[in-house]
Order: sequence, then C-alpha cells, then structure tokens
Amino acid sequence: MRSNYSGHLNETFIGKTVVICGWVHYRRDLGGLIFLEVRDRTGLVQVVFSPQEQSKELFSLAEEIRKEYVVQITGLVRKRPAGTENPESPTGAVEISVTQMVILSRAEPLPFYPDDHQTVTEELRLKYRYLDLRRPDMFSRFKLRTEVIRVMRSYLEEHGFLDIETPILTKATPEGARDYLVPSRTYPGSFFALPQSPQLFKQLLMMSGFERYYQIARCFRDEDLRADRQPEFTQLDLEASFINEEFIITLIEELIRRIFASLLSVTLPNPFPRMTYQEAISRFGIDRPDLRNPLEIVEISDLVQAVEFKVFSGPANDPDGRVAALRVPNGGERLSRKEIDDYTNFVGMFGAKGLAYIKVNRRSEGREGLQSPILKFLPDEIIQAILDRVQATDGDIIFFGADKAKVVNDSLAALRNKLGQDLGLLQGEWKPLWVVDFPMFEWDANHKRWQAVHHPFTSPQSMDVAAVEANPGECTARAYDIILNGTELGGGSIRIHNPEMQQAVFRILGIEKEEAEERFGFFLDALKYGCPPHGGLAIGLDRLIMLMSGSTSIRDVIAFPKTQTASCPLTSAPSTVPVEQLKELGIRTAVKPG
Ligand code: AMO
Ligand code: AMP
Repeated sequence: MRSNYSGHLNETFIGKTVVICGWVHYRRDLGGLIFLEVRDRTGLVQVVFSPQEQSKELFSLAEEIRKEYVVQITGLVRKRPAGTENPESPTGAVEISVTQMVILSRAEPLPFYPDDHQTVTEELRLKYRYLDLRRPDMFSRFKLRTEVIRVMRSYLEEHGFLDIETPILTKATPEGARDYLVPSRTYPGSFFALPQSPQLFKQLLMMSGFERYYQIARCFRDEDLRADRQPEFTQLDLEASFINEEFIITLIEELIRRIFASLLSVTLPNPFPRMTYQEAISRFGIDRPDLRNPLEIVEISDLVQAVEFKVFSGPANDPDGRVAALRVPNGGERLSRKEIDDYTNFVGMFGAKGLAYIKVNRRSEGREGLQSPILKFLPDEIIQAILDRVQATDGDIIFFGADKAKVVNDSLAALRNKLGQDLGLLQGEWKPLWVVDFPMFEWDANHKRWQAVHHPFTSPQSMDVAAVEANPGECTARAYDIILNGTELGGGSIRIHNPEMQQAVFRILGIEKEEAEERFGFFLDALKYGCPPHGGLAIGLDRLIMLMSGSTSIRDVIAFPKTQTASCPLTSAPSTVPVEQLKELGIRTAVKPG
C-alpha cells in the first residue's frame, strides 16, 4: 500500500513519486490551497493541494478531509518554496504534490487529538489509550523497548541461559506485596495467586539442573502505586547455579553496558561503582542514592551530644537517633526565607519536626557572620566544629535533621533529591551503582516482628544457623541492588540452598513450621533432594525503559497501564461479574458493587 514512510522523506527524494499512508494530523485550508500533514509511526510530512495543480475531483476530496482521517496519498516529492521550509521538522524541506488520494477511513471528532496530550487528564488519555499511543514519541518508546529486549535475549542466550516460562496461576510468592487472587471453579473456595515474581519457580529450575534460566516475566503486586510502580509489570528475571555474587554482578553490568552502548551510544563506567548499604544510608540517607547529585549528608551526632539544645542532644544520645547535616554550596545566597519555609514543610511530610539551618555569610567573622535560628543554643566551639566537619564556605547554607535515624534519613534524603532538582545540581547523565551488604532483616515496629529486607530465600553471609537466629538484626545478606540515577533498577541475591537455614529464616520471620509447610512445603521438599548453590537477579524492565527514554512515569512505557488506583479506564476493569459466574465459583461478595 505504501512506498515510503512519511517521516523518512527528505531532499534526497525530490523528483520521486511516492505512496504514503497514515493519519491526517493537521489540515489547513487557505481558501485556494489545502495543506495536510500526514502522520505515520515515523513522523509527519506536508501534503499540498491546489486547484491549479490538482483535478477538481481531487481538490474537492481534499476539502472533505478532517483531522485523523486515514488516507493513502500518491504524489511527487518536491522542494518547498523558499521561505516556507520548517527547519524543526526532519521532513521540513519538502512537500508532496498529490496525484492521487484514497480515503481509507473517516474519523468522527476525537475526544482529544494526539498533540493535546499535555492538556488533557491522564484518565482521558488512558480511556482512549489507542489515541494517546498515536504520537510518534510513543512509538519510539515501544521501539526502544523491543530493541532492549532483543539485546537482552541475545546476550543471555550467548551466555547459555534458557528462556523458560513459569506459571501465572500459582501459589503466593512472597515479595512483600499483597497477592492478586484468582478463584478456582474446580476447587470452590480455593484460589490461585498471580506471581509477584517467578522466584520459587526459578529456584526450582536450578534444582532441576538447568543451571541458567531467564525470562521476560510478568509480575503482579497489589501494592501502593507510585510513578515507578504498576500492579502488573515486567521483569528480566534470571537465575544461575554454581555461581557467586561476582558472577551475577559482572553478567548484569556487561548487559547494561551493552544495552546503553548499542542503543543510546552511551559508554557506562567499567566497573560500576559499589557501595555498602551502611555507607549509602550514612552518606545519602537512602539505599538508592542518585549519584548525579553532589550533595552529601554528614554525621554530627558526636559533636552535639553535650549541647543544651534538646532538639539535637536528645537524638544524639539516643541509640536509634541521628543528627546530621546537609550542606548546600551557595545555598545561602540562592534560597529565600520563603523557600526555606517551603523546604521545612516538605521535610515535615517525612516526619521531620523542623528543619534547622545555618546560613554562612562570612565565616571569618565567627558567630556574627552566620544567620540561623539555632545559633543561640550552640556554643562557639561546637559551631566551629560543625562548620569544619561539613567544610562550609561563604555563601553556603547547612540544613540539619535531628530525630530517630529513620526520620532523619528519609527527610534529608528527600530534601537532597529536591534540592538537586530545584537548584539544577545534577551532574553527568548516567550514574549506575551497586549497593551490596544489605541487612538480612529489618524490625517492623508496627507488627513487632522481623521482615526480610530482600525476600526470605536470600542467603545470609554467615552460614551458622545458630548465630543467625541468635542475632537477626546483625545479620548481613548476600543481596545486591543495581541503582541507576536514584531508581532501583533491579535486585537479587545468592539464595539459601540448605533446608535448615531456610527453616531458620522462616522461624525468624515468624512463619511457624506448620505455616511454612502449608505455604512452601513443596519448596522445602525440593531443597532436600539435591540443591546446587545458586543465585540471580531481576531487572525492572519498565523502569529501565522509562529511564532510557527520559520518561517521567512508568505508565509511558507500558502500552495499556493501570491508573494510580489500579484500574483500567479503557476496559473499565476491574468490574463486577454476573451472579451466575460467582455462583459457579462458590463466591458471595460482602460488598455491594458501587
Ligand atoms: P524485587 O522485588 O526487588 O526482586 O524486584 C526486582 C525489580 O522489579 C522492579 N519492580 C517493579 N517495577 C514496576 N512496578 C512494580 N510494582 C515493581 N516492583 C518491583 C524493580 C525491582 O528492582 N524475585 C526478586 C529478584 C531476585 O531475587 O532475583 C524480585 O522480584 O525494578
Ligand atoms: P524550635 O526550638 O522548635 O523553635 O526550633 C529551632 C529550630 O530548629 C527551627 O529552625 C526548627 O525548624 C528546627 N528544628 C526543630 N526540630 C527539629 C528537628 N527535629 N530536626 C531539625 N531541626 C529541627
């Protein structure tokens, strides 16, 4: 039907007859002349009709055309008249003088036009997602997605990995979120769970002796949604046997370097930097720091233990407390009083009770050269020690957090990110990082129990079962996360391959023997029948594409995503079902459909 794509036409085609197909993006009727812009997945090209050049029939057909009609146009590519070129468009030097046109499909007025996507609500965009996807920039994201998957597949197949599908109708896989459940008709009252990840099956494949597995795997998690989270999403999931952390880290680094080099012509560092979890928390307050941001959090607890200012000395003497500073070079000069107040409100969202600060006007003048609501509470030598510790210079502002360590870390990490954005501090385009030596468990104060930081199948660094059980809080995991520009791209671990340790971890997590048997009996059995040492990782594919395409939301790289409240405006899912269907499943709902 077509000889060329619209977006590919340029001066090299001048004098050639082409056939293009696509949507009428734009139509301008200048009385005597009719201009169309015809769009296909590659871009736009201008098409011209004039009563002098085109037959009467053809010209009146052009008059019928409306936006988003689908047309096939045959015509001669020619140079645009001098002064009418559009240097912004790749096809802007040429236009097509039409010799033939077929209207392939007419369009009623649309709920919105592709160019309006920034002015309409996301709800409307998702309701008519097929219209939203008509933009060539959408197409290019999905093209990139295809290419990334191609590089992943060929790389892993070169390295001997087999692509194996695992069940979607399965049993709960604990990754820390709620399960999506599917009722069984043949076993009324029983439910399948959709997998939160293929974790258990990929480990079973190692016990099967496949040694190297991968899958582009769909995962389902009923959790609170954010810009980088969807209830159903895709992982590049992989697992290998008889390997250690180094194998997985090197394998993934090389893959990411290959993807960036071949698809974005970007050379990433070799090797990627690595940082322990403790160092990341101490310097950045978060286990996924954006290393493009030069700001760092500095510990000052030891300096303020003896001061009278209770806001500081309280947390400084509390084993769970932290007092820390964040110096913003030139921030004193750049931030107004109102902006400081706004940042104080901002950290309040993370539980901070205030945001103390010192503006450094002229350090040489001592106390007189500083401006701060907390100076009166601090002796000279402590002020000097703080300024020395953070290496303050004239023009800086230093912010302080003092509270439980979690509150200080969360609030200063968020403040660091926000200042990085607001003040345009980010340096360099791509900053990958491995974070290693995660704790095995974290204490969940609400439920008064230990939780797995990665998941319950992750191996501790110590293989001494008694030592792990005696002191879960001190235990380090053989887990690693890959971070890119402050986003957690992927995570994995070396797994437990002995049944005693697996049972011990379940005990620490408060999963009693019976419950473990009921939930994971099949898996504990498999561990008994010859399990190789193994480990793996999963990359969030949608997040990778989001970052590579410069998108701000994961929804922009998923063809038919869910809203922030986990619904689909296009199909109106989830929806109620006929009573007969529920009856067949042995289900009665307690909620009236609203
Ligand atoms: P984890 O739970 O860390 O590990 O997930 C791995 C990666 O998947 C992506 N991801 C998500 N992407 C979009 N929406 C979500 N709701 C979402 N949740 C996770 C992230 C994350 O880093 N089975 C283990 C992997 C392993 O141990 O091998 C797992 O799933 O990019
Ligand atoms: P106050 O004594 O409560 O008036 O606080 C004096 C200064 O300390 C103000 O600038 C507050 O914003 C700040 N501040 C109060 N509590 C904290 C806290 N927990 N962490 C950091 N700064 C605080």
